[in-house]
Amino acid sequence: MTVGVGAATGVTVEEVLAAVDAVLPAVQGPVRLATLDARSTEPGLREAAARRGWPLTGHPAAALATVPVPAPSARVAAAVGTPSVAEAAALLDGGQLVVGKTVHGRVTVAVARQDVDLRHHGDVEATPGLVDLAVNVRAGTPPDWLRAVLHEAVDSSAGYPDARTARTAVAAAHGRAEAEVLLTAGAAETFTLLARALRPRRAVVVHPSFTEPEAALRAAGHPVERLLLAPPGHLLGGVPEDADLVVLGNPTNPTSVLHPAETVAALARPGRVLVVDEAFADTVPGEPASLAGRADLPGLLVVRSLTKTWGLAGLRVGYALGPADLVAALAAQQPHWPVSTPALAALRACTTPAALAEAAAAAHQLTEHRAALLAALPAAVEVVGAPRSSFVLLRVPGGAQVRERLRERGWAVRRGDTFPGLTGDHLRVAVRDPDTSRAFGAVLAEILAEVRSEVLAATTTSEETR
Ligand SMILES: Cc1ncc(COP(=O)(O)O)c(C=O)c1O
Repeated sequence: MTVGVGAATGVTVEEVLAAVDAVLPAVQGPVRLATLDARSTEPGLREAAARRGWPLTGHPAAALATVPVPAPSARVAAAVGTPSVAEAAALLDGGQLVVGKTVHGRVTVAVARQDVDLRHHGDVEATPGLVDLAVNVRAGTPPDWLRAVLHEAVDSSAGYPDARTARTAVAAAHGRAEAEVLLTAGAAETFTLLARALRPRRAVVVHPSFTEPEAALRAAGHPVERLLLAPPGHLLGGVPEDADLVVLGNPTNPTSVLHPAETVAALARPGRVLVVDEAFADTVPGEPASLAGRADLPGLLVVRSLTKTWGLAGLRVGYALGPADLVAALAAQQPHWPVSTPALAALRACTTPAALAEAAAAAHQLTEHRAALLAALPAAVEVVGAPRSSFVLLRVPGGAQVRERLRERGWAVRRGDTFPGLTGDHLRVAVRDPDTSRAFGAVLAEILAEVRSEVLAATTTSEETR
């Protein structure tokens, strides 16, 4: 649920909360606040979001202006450059307006209900104190040698970053020309750059999948079509012929399914940009399905990340590989110096033969650890698809309740219902060492037994009272 908020300068936290509380329905899922970017630094708004633990997003006026709303205002357009703030900010992530623009003194609010919250990610579920099976970053990372590289890079961060040697290193690691390499502040940056640089006629995002590409496209005002792959295998197929932008992940988060290289490659064609998010490619030994080296496929953009294998989520470091003209168009949307000196050092260090060998060894170990996790799961749990990455997708009866009980006992798993095409019974679980997986399997079995006996007791009582 997104509450779009328009507020006057100097608005207080009490005014904001009173306005929001007046329009929020009693039954709600996760709530987020959205506003104009110039307003997102207002202390009253920030404090309101912080008090309730709601994320607060600021959107540029130009993005808000693209959203069709029922109550546009010429006065607002003249003042801030968009005919709507509250309704447009509420609707920017998609969904339906459930409360139209409502004015409460100095605050205007509107509420939209999304079918799923595209901006929900596992990091908010992995709260301190819980065993983190919600975020798929390799445990025990970054390794000591990489930390030393980063420390040294911080020490030499007085000057502006120089990306040249890092770009050369990434190009060499994938056998690509340097002009085909775009260095980014995390894989996620590429999705925003694509949304800004392209004007797709028919953008198709393959789901269930990482939701940032769709969120970025919507935020830039592009209509998005979802292609939902059918359970249980979630195999790739059915991409419309005339789609001029196709986005998919391989291996796919959250299903852990690995689509064959040839199936993905067959989607590339002139006149189409095919974006393959390979943020998890290096979790699969030998990377058999990676298209990172394929300079011959028209319009193919492969997106990679250092986040998962190297434990660098907070550094923001990744890259994309694609045709030189597309890379140049995306680079034109970047700020100057988009990638920091430590991130560039990480790119150089993680593309050496020794680092690539370490990543390959980690991928082999992960395969064994995943088998241990699957073996430790209770029989009542369905494993969705054929997992090939650093996480598995489960279908668990009473999933939402089970997830809550896991949290109570100290375990964080990733909810599935914020991925288009999945439900509250879907839980994504990161692969950890076998001891952790066995402990998790045992807790999950206990919880499932508890839930089963409670359901049984409730059924017996209701039969007795009939
Ligand atoms: C499939 C996928 N792609 C990209 C990302 C983002 O990666 P980065 O941290 O490099 O932006 C994630 C993070 O969860 C992901 O799951």
